[in-house]
Amino acid sequence: MEFSIKSGAPQTGARSCLVVGVYEPRKLSAAAAGIDRAAKGYLASVVRRGDMQGKPGSTLLLHSVPGVAAERVLLVGLGRERDFLEKRYRESVAAAVRALNATGAEEATLHLTELTVGRRDSAWKVAHAVTVAGECGYRFTQMKSKVEGDGPALRRLALNVDRAAEKRAAAGLKQGLAVVQGMDLAKDLGNLPPNICTPAYLAGRARELAKRYRMKVTVLERADMERLGMHSLLSVAQGSAQPPKLIILEYRGGPKKAKPVALVGKGVTFDTGGISLKPGAEMDEMKFDMCGAASVLGTLKAVGEMKLPINVIGAIPATENMPGSRATRPGDVVKSMSGQTVEILNTDAEGRLILCDALTYIERYQPAAVIDIATLTGACVIALGHVASGLFANDDALAREVNSAADTAHDRVWHMPLWDDYQEQLKSNFADFANIGGRPAGSVTAACFLARFTGKFKWAHLDIAGTAWKSGKEKGSTGRPVPLLTQFLVSRAQR
Ligand code: BES
Ligand code: MN
Ligand code: ZN
Repeated sequence: MEFSIKSGAPQTGARSCLVVGVYEPRKLSAAAAGIDRAAKGYLASVVRRGDMQGKPGSTLLLHSVPGVAAERVLLVGLGRERDFLEKRYRESVAAAVRALNATGAEEATLHLTELTVGRRDSAWKVAHAVTVAGECGYRFTQMKSKVEGDGPALRRLALNVDRAAEKRAAAGLKQGLAVVQGMDLAKDLGNLPPNICTPAYLAGRARELAKRYRMKVTVLERADMERLGMHSLLSVAQGSAQPPKLIILEYRGGPKKAKPVALVGKGVTFDTGGISLKPGAEMDEMKFDMCGAASVLGTLKAVGEMKLPINVIGAIPATENMPGSRATRPGDVVKSMSGQTVEILNTDAEGRLILCDALTYIERYQPAAVIDIATLTGACVIALGHVASGLFANDDALAREVNSAADTAHDRVWHMPLWDDYQEQLKSNFADFANIGGRPAGSVTAACFLARFTGKFKWAHLDIAGTAWKSGKEKGSTGRPVPLLTQFLVSRAQR
């Protein structure tokens, strides 16, 4: 879909479907009232009859409205004016785009972008309208031999804003488009089957990205990992026929000397649990265990699209976690690259085992901040469900920064504790510490494990186990937290 920024009164847009909001109860928004004046009270009469009460998410399509050049007018329910905040705004845009996609309209002008949404500016409103519309358009059809229908007719969506805000809105448009592209990439990678999306496949996609956006790419092979002493990462990979890869992408858009932000993404392309085998039900969903990696690639794509003036390192430890005669046994002790030894009491707690060596490896880039992103624990899903990602950090200012980016991006997180008190649960009789901490606070002890490898930099950890994909009828990757990570980097580039 093509997007553009427009300003001006609704009536001027000929041939287009005009999209305007109606608050509850039966209150026309400013743009709707403008059309109503041109239509000599027609909209008001429709609303008075009760066909459009303004209920959130409801829509009503009107044809050939008198006095209006556009072929169609779409009314969108907004709910009560005082409750019309970020969530409602995004839902109303989604409802509008879905309704438009069901019509034959090829172009439309969205007037919802003029509405007041708390204290959000036009750049925010445009960016979110574009991301929401982009999300509505996502389909994963690569693996289907036949694709039904030819898709929606809608080709062009103009976003209407105040004339004074046009310039700011253009910045929002740019960010929104970049985020959609980043999310689409992350979703595709997540949705691809695990027999295709292997560690080698991820490395190939990283190479592609590097070429297109002038990044430097390095792929460490098994032999390199052995040389570096990454025996924790290697222990996870040893049960699999697929060779592991440690993929490093370097984007240098900022000043030469500026320290980079490092994004480290868990790339387990399939997690069977290993010898601590998972139960069979829904095991297919463990193809999504590389969504952290996918979010790193997606974010770097967005950064490349925006040409952000900032330095970013992406690091992806990629491997399968398989059982087999070579696989790690519960009770094995391995030495990590940091020199610390780990007793592997459960081979299904593999994410932390691959992340720890990647975290040690990126010390060499002297990062200004490190964020790791991982589908790390089922316990995080129990704690926060599918709404917020878990946020852990060894630096409060960084936690606040991530939190605020998450709110702006509406890709929310909840700050969880990382107190030393929890470290006790990782005690081992046979090594420096164990890779599991028992049932209580499973997502916290996982983060505590990682904290033992992040003493040399400011670090935040995002547990995206509950937010990276959806199960059930709408099963599929969500593209999260690409919006949050992109916003974080956009804000960093501005400060
Ligand atoms: N990839 C899983 C975490 C996961 C499980 C995410 C279910 C989403 C849904 C991770 O590798 C894992 O298996 N974690 C274990 C850790 C446990 C053995 C300490 C878990 O959460 O059960
Ligand atoms: Mn696991
Ligand atoms: Zn896993």
